[in-house]
Amino acid sequence: MPRISQWFIGTAVIYVIIGMVGGIIMGAKQDFSLAPAHAHLNLIGWVSLALMGFYYNANREKAETRLATVQFWVSTIGLWIMIPGLVLALRMVPAGEPIVIAGSIITLIGMILFAVAIFRRAPGRA
Ligand code: HEM
Repeated sequence: MPRISQWFIGTAVIYVIIGMVGGIIMGAKQDFSLAPAHAHLNLIGWVSLALMGFYYNANREKAETRLATVQFWVSTIGLWIMIPGLVLALRMVPAGEPIVIAGSIITLIGMILFAVAIFRRAPGRA
């Protein structure tokens, strides 16, 4: 498996473990106020990032590109900013809102870069 796929899937599985622990804590406390943060950590952090990892594994010529590495970091940093921002916003901390907006935009840019990686001709192909 290409290194970039290992990074995507390896970090994604950490996010889903954190997300599942968060889900169990929510259930145990019967406090579902952080459910949107749980959902986004699992659906972006686990589902979307793992899918990207599998895509690069299936398209290995694209896995070796600089775009793939840049895309990994933009998507990762977006998530790292978005989820804590969302937690703060859901906890009604005013600083949370600009943080979640910034993280969401970075996360969107990561997905746009992924779209570019998909549609761009693979290096070395005519
Ligand atoms: C151990 C595993 C998990 C536990 C214990 C758990 C627990 C929970 C709980 C307690 C809620 C709140 C339900 C409510 O508001 O009534 C929830 C919501 C949700 N979970 Fe999970 N979850 C787990 C795994 C996952 C995974 C793997 C995903 C996605 C890949 C996921 C996606 C969602 C979504 C989309 C919601 C709805 C959020 C919302 O209504 O704002 N969960 N989960």
